[in-house]
Amino acid sequence: MGKNWKTKLIHSDARIPEGFRSLSTPVHRGSTVLFPSAEAVQDTWDQYAVGYTYGLYGTPTTLELAARICELERGYRTFITPGGQGAIALINFAFLKAGDHVLVPESIYTPNRKFAVEVLRRFGVEVSFYPPTIGSGIRAHFRENTRLVWCESPGSITMEVQDLPAIVEAAHAANARVVLDNTWAAGVYFDAFAHGVDVTMQALTKYVGGHSDLLLGSITVRDELSYRRLGSTHQLVGCAASPDDCSLALRGLKTLAVRLKAIETSALELAVWLAERPEIELVLHPSLPSCPGHEFWKRDFTGSAGVFSIVFKQRYTKQQVLSFVNALELFEIGYSWAGVTSLAVAYDFHSATNRPNYGARIVRFSIGLEDERDLKEDLTQALIKM
Ligand SMILES: Cc1ncc(COP(=O)(O)O)c(C=O)c1O
Repeated sequence: MGKNWKTKLIHSDARIPEGFRSLSTPVHRGSTVLFPSAEAVQDTWDQYAVGYTYGLYGTPTTLELAARICELERGYRTFITPGGQGAIALINFAFLKAGDHVLVPESIYTPNRKFAVEVLRRFGVEVSFYPPTIGSGIRAHFRENTRLVWCESPGSITMEVQDLPAIVEAAHAANARVVLDNTWAAGVYFDAFAHGVDVTMQALTKYVGGHSDLLLGSITVRDELSYRRLGSTHQLVGCAASPDDCSLALRGLKTLAVRLKAIETSALELAVWLAERPEIELVLHPSLPSCPGHEFWKRDFTGSAGVFSIVFKQRYTKQQVLSFVNALELFEIGYSWAGVTSLAVAYDFHSATNRPNYGARIVRFSIGLEDERDLKEDLTQALIKM
């Protein structure tokens, strides 16, 4: 007698043709991983060492994305996280403990800063901030217990490009690791490991995903020791990424080069054009000399992305700047950048230290894939209305 139909729902004998080949990476979903025998059962996160053990540590789709990012960043191993912010948190959990000190640039992505202030300090980690353009002057900021130095280059909103080799040299002399948020350069326009960085992270949400429809992050390490520290923390924090999102990110990777090229060309053209406008005081685009740290971009980067900021002249009020953003028709208003749609966001930036006080005159753009002549026309009409 055959199996009952109810059993067949679970244990089917149905067969389909074999040998399907296509150009896309299959989406392997799965929490439970099957073992070949009772003896083979184990729960180890390092699937490169022991094979697959649990979906939490990645299915072949997740690991394929991780391996591809690792290959592009020329690192040792990569972990995938559910978002860029998750990657930031995981790095802090993996490399810091109570009594340690971490250095964070003043220009860091705001939730990264908040994590340091609101979570790390609560866990007994000392946090201090340094000016992003400090270069080798960072030496004076090290303490006996400094274990980690965060960098983000260029910085969020204010776009300072950092002198990574100088920071790396000082950090290594003080026995501290350097971790870089390499999201703006999409992991490809700045060769972090060749410049001595120890750990990189990216919000794959941005250029790798590229279509504003997924959230993912990556952490790439340069050595086995960091791999072990992160792997066990990744397991215990339970930071699993969705294989469906990973498959979208794998698709995004295939067009990353052409998207970046088109975006770079448009963004640069618009940045140069905006710099000539009478309303604009400053364009903060790393490949223009007006951007702090431009010389480091020129020395260390192989390209530029589509995110940059402008600062309006002193005579403009906050309300006028907001009116400019509201008047834009093609540019949408939204935070999460690097998709195909151009974005604009006005910020109110006040520095507690001696960085320039742009106040409410700063607007950040993320240039998408629209024709740049249309974007220019849109900017022109909004500047006139303003
Ligand atoms: C520089 C930078 N790092 C990290 C993140 C966080 O990424 P996610 O939005 O995937 O959490 C962002 C998001 O805006 C970002 O701009």
